[in-house]
Amino acid sequence: TPDTRQPTLLLGQTLSFTANPFEVPFEDAVSHETVGAVLIRDGQIAAVGQAETLRALNPTAKVIDYGKGLIMAGFVDAHVHYPQTAMIASWGKRLIDWLNSYTFPEEMRFASKTYAADIAGRYLDLTKAHGTTTVASYCTIHPVSVDALFEEAQKRGQRVVAGKTCMDRNAPEGLMDTAQTAYDQSKQLLQAWHGVDRISYAITPRFSPTSTPEQLDAMGALWAEHPDCLMQTHLSEQTDEIDWVLGMFPDARDYLDTYEKFGLLGERGLYGHAIHLTDRERARLKETGAGLVHCPTSNTFIGSGLFDMQGLMAEGHNVGLATDTGGGSSFSMLRTMAAAYEVGQLRHNPLHASQLLWLATQGSARSLHLDDKIGNLAAGMEADLVVLDLASTDAISQRSSRAEDLWESIFPTIMMGDDRAIRAVWINGKAA
Ligand code: GUN
Ligand code: ZN
Repeated sequence: TPDTRQPTLLLGQTLSFTANPFEVPFEDAVSHETVGAVLIRDGQIAAVGQAETLRALNPTAKVIDYGKGLIMAGFVDAHVHYPQTAMIASWGKRLIDWLNSYTFPEEMRFASKTYAADIAGRYLDLTKAHGTTTVASYCTIHPVSVDALFEEAQKRGQRVVAGKTCMDRNAPEGLMDTAQTAYDQSKQLLQAWHGVDRISYAITPRFSPTSTPEQLDAMGALWAEHPDCLMQTHLSEQTDEIDWVLGMFPDARDYLDTYEKFGLLGERGLYGHAIHLTDRERARLKETGAGLVHCPTSNTFIGSGLFDMQGLMAEGHNVGLATDTGGGSSFSMLRTMAAAYEVGQLRHNPLHASQLLWLATQGSARSLHLDDKIGNLAAGMEADLVVLDLASTDAISQRSSRAEDLWESIFPTIMMGDDRAIRAVWINGKAA
């Protein structure tokens, strides 16, 4: 078919990953052009290279010059709760009390489609302003909360993963379904939305304490019928939570076993937090290739613990990075990378800037099994991009102006940057 749309050529510094900087030295993991260009055509990245070369090859392209701006893949946030947007930064509680005091009352409001649509739009605006182009979100038990997010994502041409959060115990009246309705409603939503435009459905049992064995079993059955879907849940976030789970499932060998028993452990499984893991859990997660999602601002905000990034990466786990809004205290993946760095320092294992940027793009995309479509600046990928201003505030620019290499020029923005560092966002090949 003939190419009818005029291509766009973005000029700036470009940063692409050619390998995993946890596996090879960082200088071998990236490709960087100081005067680079990205050619966008029909919603896809058609080429990445030197500005001069791509200009010569594409004389009719519309040119947008971002100067020293750093063009890279848009951020991928692998674990969020969009319904918690309006109660982010709620004070002073640990997980179970935080859920009961702040989270569940807010999630009750999503019985209203109007309210859900308002928050979904607000959430996607906020995350876009922070450079995030894809999220994997929990919704609430209400099917309309799923429709609301997918409809907003569809309007924006945005790639989004989400699912109805299922809970049939230990939650307030009005915020519970049953094993049967969770199955039926999830199935209906999955059939209506999975694979429509850029939407993927994720089967979403919230976590073992809020699902009966019957509900976990029903979710496992649904996943077995739709193995191409992702399944997202929470695992081993706080020690009190683990004790509670083991008391509730006396036959389980460990927390992971409460999922494994019901067919909820698999390569397309995404396990948020995964902090306090036993050796058996680590081995089984590794064996299955399941995705672990590090949520560092949440883990410090709710007081959960320190994720073992370097240990898990060394074992070859599949790890993504996420804000966990609103247990997380920020919508920003820059702030989230900074928190991941700080947690690394507390474990005497600092992450390199290349590793942080990889986690926020490639790592998360890989955990979502979307790394063939998003998460890198490379020909053939969907054109979801962020352009970073590496001198967005006085504090950052006075430091980055002294930088002696690329990483020193980027690290101040990772540590101190916010939405002012986001110069532009492109979603599906369009300026967003
Ligand atoms: N565990 C179960 N539900 C939640 C949630 O909404 N946020 C966090 N951080 N942990 C959870
Ligand atoms: Zn969560």
